[in-house]
Amino acid sequence: MSAVALPPIPRVESPPGFSPAESGFAMHKEIHEQPLAARVVARHYGRDGGFDRLDALDLSRIRRVRLIGAGTSVYATRAAKRWFETVAGLPCEAEVASEYAGTAACGEASDELGVVVSQSGETTETVAAMVRLREAGIPTVAVVNAASSTIGREADVVLPTFAGPETGVCATKSFTAALQVLARFALHAARRRGADASQLAPHAEALDRIPEWIALALENEPAVLEVLPHFDRARSALIIARGALVPIAAEGALKLKEITYIHAEAMPAGELKHGPMALVDSDLPVVALAASGSDFGRLAANVRQAAARGGRIVVVGDRAAILGLSDCVTTALTLPRCPDFVLPIAATVPLQLLAHHLAVRRGVDVDRPRNLAKAVIDE
Ligand code: G6P
Repeated sequence: MSAVALPPIPRVESPPGFSPAESGFAMHKEIHEQPLAARVVARHYGRDGGFDRLDALDLSRIRRVRLIGAGTSVYATRAAKRWFETVAGLPCEAEVASEYAGTAACGEASDELGVVVSQSGETTETVAAMVRLREAGIPTVAVVNAASSTIGREADVVLPTFAGPETGVCATKSFTAALQVLARFALHAARRRGADASQLAPHAEALDRIPEWIALALENEPAVLEVLPHFDRARSALIIARGALVPIAAEGALKLKEITYIHAEAMPAGELKHGPMALVDSDLPVVALAASGSDFGRLAANVRQAAARGGRIVVVGDRAAILGLSDCVTTALTLPRCPDFVLPIAATVPLQLLAHHLAVRRGVDVDRPRNLAKAVIDE
């Protein structure tokens, strides 16, 4: 473990009556543990430490990465695809474990790397997908929270996420920890493949500051409580985003489905007009993940189209993005203005809080939602 000087984590106050201790839900506590969990990841993997175990795989010879997961872990793989492609120049496939495990081999090659993501390390379909990778001669790296699990033990290399035990059915701190390990892994692969160190340094610095940005994102809790009434008549919700935030929109939609029982669908914002716009009316919350970067203008146009059709617009964005949409926003949650590279990690947090408090308002036992299990293990 390398010694890295990390900035302090700001102290986060929950609104009176809504602290994790008062709510009594493990999920709420685990959401609030994320700044600390992020600090543990930074300590283990900061400045390339913790990745020496990958040396045996010789990353310089890898030509493609096949990322595999189930449930929330799928969305971690989709976020990681972007990091591996943009910083390490490695083309990726992000595969759903249940699909990959059941199909015939197609184009796998020995210069591929398999990256298997799982909180529990026991999901049957993900284990099966890993077996298939191995049969195809593809070396496997496991990004798992339970390092001594089946996947952790059987992978060629294990990169633990160190988030600690997670007991709420919803993956929260294990998801943001997996994102951080995957982003750091992509940076490590880029270095091993000869990328210019000066171009990677800002990304590494941004990752070191994640505990602070997650803490700032948690400060949305009072604002989240004000958003809740806008969902009172909702049976469905849309979450729209562009680029790197699309996998985070998908994870946010999964959280809403898992514990609020609202049918939620995520999509790239540009797709709204190609069908889903027909759903928009004054009962439909449209959550827009908005960053005030180069894509903002196009996202804003999509948001305005939904607002013009009566949709209730909930913006989750940095201050500039919220201001830019002030003509049509119903209510807003604020993201810290952090570099684009790490924004997907910070943007996850308000959506977790939203799902949690909405579920509590609807009377759901958020730690034990109906029909779901923490890990799906077939006999
Ligand atoms: C179950 C859980 C999900 C989880 C998925 C994958 O369906 O309810 O929350 O994302 O399994 O779990 P894993 O442990 O493989 O990440």
